Amino acid sequence: MSPIHLLQLLIFSVCIYSFSVFTYLVFYYDLISSVLFNEVQSEYDFIIVGSGTAGSLIAHRIAKETNYTFIVLEAGGRGHPFHDIPAFGPLLHQSIFDWNYETVPQENACFAMEKAKCKLTQGKIFGGSSKLNNMVHVQGNISHYVEWFHGKYTKNYIEEQFNYMKSNIFHLSNIQYESNLSDAVLKAAEELNFNLLDKDFEIGFIKSLVTQNNGKRWTTSYNLETSKYVLTNVLVEKLLFNDSTCVGVQIHSPKKIKLFAKKGVIVSAGTFNSAKILQLSGIGPKTLLDSLDITVRKELPVGNNLQDHIGTGLDLVLFNNAQSVQMFDIMNPWNVFQYFFKGRGPLTTPGCEVVGFISTKNETTPDLQFMVLPVGISADRGSYLRKALRIKDSVWKKYFSQIFDKHSATFLTLLLHPKSKGEVRIQSSDPTVPPLIDPKYLSHKDDIRTIANGVLMTRKLIETESLKAIGAHINNLPFPGCENFEIFSHLYLECYIKHLTLTSYHPVGTCTMGLPDSNKSVVDTSFRVLGIDNLYVVDGSVLPTLPSGNINAAIAMMANIFFENNIKQRYSMNIKISCDKITFKELVQKVCPVR
Ligand SMILES: Cc1cc2nc3c(=O)[nH]c(=O)nc-3n(C[C@H](O)[C@H](O)[C@H](O)COP(=O)(O)OP(=O)(O)OC[C@H]3O[C@@H](n4cnc5c(N)ncnc54)[C@H](O)[C@@H]3O)c2cc1C
Ligand SMILES: *[C@@H]1O[C@H](CO)[C@@H](O)[C@H](O)[C@H]1NC(C)=O
Ligand SMILES: *[C@@H]1O[C@H](CO)[C@@H](O)[C@H](O)[C@H]1NC(C)=O
Ligand SMILES: *[C@@H]1O[C@H](CO)[C@@H](O)[C@H](O)[C@H]1NC(C)=O
Ligand SMILES: *[C@@H]1O[C@H](CO)[C@@H](O)[C@H](O)[C@H]1NC(C)=O
Ligand SMILES: *[C@@H]1O[C@H](CO)[C@@H](O)[C@H](O)[C@H]1NC(C)=O
Ligand SMILES: *[C@@H]1O[C@H](CO)[C@@H](O)[C@H](O)[C@H]1NC(C)=O
Repeated sequence: MSPIHLLQLLIFSVCIYSFSVFTYLVFYYDLISSVLFNEVQSEYDFIIVGSGTAGSLIAHRIAKETNYTFIVLEAGGRGHPFHDIPAFGPLLHQSIFDWNYETVPQENACFAMEKAKCKLTQGKIFGGSSKLNNMVHVQGNISHYVEWFHGKYTKNYIEEQFNYMKSNIFHLSNIQYESNLSDAVLKAAEELNFNLLDKDFEIGFIKSLVTQNNGKRWTTSYNLETSKYVLTNVLVEKLLFNDSTCVGVQIHSPKKIKLFAKKGVIVSAGTFNSAKILQLSGIGPKTLLDSLDITVRKELPVGNNLQDHIGTGLDLVLFNNAQSVQMFDIMNPWNVFQYFFKGRGPLTTPGCEVVGFISTKNETTPDLQFMVLPVGISADRGSYLRKALRIKDSVWKKYFSQIFDKHSATFLTLLLHPKSKGEVRIQSSDPTVPPLIDPKYLSHKDDIRTIANGVLMTRKLIETESLKAIGAHINNLPFPGCENFEIFSHLYLECYIKHLTLTSYHPVGTCTMGLPDSNKSVVDTSFRVLGIDNLYVVDGSVLPTLPSGNINAAIAMMANIFFENNIKQRYSMNIKISCDKITFKELVQKVCPVR
């Protein structure tokens, strides 16, 4: 490493270290105050497990629109407003606010990472994974939502719900800071005859729409009055039952206690942890539960059908001049001022400036998504991002550290509808032990082919006049481990993708929604766990397939539909009926709330 790169590494490391110390202080402050000041009732109408995208949305609407009592139990702590600075998002990966999960060693993927394991970042913080995400908002193809519910809701209904969320719940905005790259990419797309979109699911390119409010990260947890309804640093171990009715939850830490729910428990712990909680509670594959001596309460395919949006393309595009935010821009006091007082400037960058949807088969339905990030992981000289992905030393030395003199960008090519499916399995009945996660990335050959065609499309984009004009060129360094193949041949690309496999952290499917008689379903189209009363799963895990785009909006939509149809409807039914003058028929139907 040259002296200047070494100096950069030193400065970045000091800054990142300071931020990490700050994060620990915030965490311990919240931990101590939650232990000292939290008040708990032993019984509520509803208990919500997890304060992520789904859990917070449901909680907010219950608080605002009903008089039900409820509590949100969150394993992570509360962050600080500094943690909402969009450009700092990556610094939460691998921090105390990340579950720090990883895949088991992959047979066909993640070879560039230590032990062939890919990191699977998920938020362990009030707000969940949306506190760590790239904020890109994509609504996707509405037909997919209709399919997930097997036609129970129409396209019109889903669209109405999106409109409701846009005007009442979400804060969306255009990106507040963009590099020269984003316009250049849009021009390049036009050169290749792609449309510039105003909707986000047809073939074409569009600048990112982001979940930001005044340049600051916005998540569904912002709508919620935190102190009143959310207990942080509370790890839920398992569910409690009376026969086949879920009656509450067992908390593991800070203290072993039971909390009860009269009307229902809503599990919104995210795709990995919801599966884990169900399995720990005896709901899952019989062979798994038997092997761990867990009594089977209900045999269901919990943990199967795991799918994720994966791809490649890190630092695949190089420039002679910087295109975007540099590490030093983020430290510049003027930019910090701009962020706090105007909600603009480089600190608002979500990372991804443009998204594109293409079909590698020349069809009208996209099978691949581009996420254009004007930075690469060589930018921080190895002080942080490299460690967050666990890139192997040898790969770092031979590939990424070779391009320090250039400026890199990342055109992620992500497979929208993977054919490879994996699984999540607990490995112990101890709730503090992480589950074994085997996504079986690239186990289906078609997935490799689609991503490879995406990389070739990246190359075409880079070779357009518009991108050449800003000095873009493809990174022609052979990837370590793939040197024997002719560069960009199909065999080379297969090797490259199997080595540099990247997830966009969109796991879904482990508690699949479906028809009650299908052996793939865990919940029905009303989010009810099959065969168990008063137990619901609402989060990414219920999506039976991936949407055609980033998944946060889809998860919020599921939570919104859950509230509308399971809670609001039930609530309005209860309050409309005056129980003083109840008819005999109503009494028989038990529509009155029991006092
Ligand atoms: C790095 C990253 C980048 C992403 N980028 C984007 C993007 O740009 N656009 C987009 O649309 N999507 C993006 N996503 C995906 C999206 O943010 C997530 O899919 C979404 O937030 C998941 O919501 P959820 O409600 O299913 O779960 P989560 O938000 O993960 O919430 C689950 C919550 O439950 C808590 N919990 C878990 N287990 C327990 C337990 N036992 N007891 C108590 N609490 C528990 C967790 O701590 C967490 O707070 C990204 C995700 C990541 C990780
Ligand atoms: C909730 O209860 C309060 C007082 O008990 C009442 O004034 C209010 O109208 C109720 N709200 C709803 C939405 O029912
Ligand atoms: C379990 O449910 C039955 C029937 O609803 C009820 O009689 C019993 O009291 C319940 N047991 C507990 C421990 O709540
Ligand atoms: C972006 O383009 C403008 C005008 O073309 C130029 O002045 C500026 O230097 C460019 N910025 C970067 C970071 O290259
Ligand atoms: C894609 O399909 C269109 C019409 O369906 C056709 O005109 C065009 O030539 C095709 N392009 C390629 C690259 O095959
Ligand atoms: C949307 O999804 C439906 C159902 O899968 C599909 O038929 C349609 O082609 C998709 N539309 C687009 C534009 O991708
Ligand atoms: C599920 O059902 C299908 C046919 O309906 C069958 O082929 C398959 O083996 C079943 N899977 C399991 C795990 O039972």
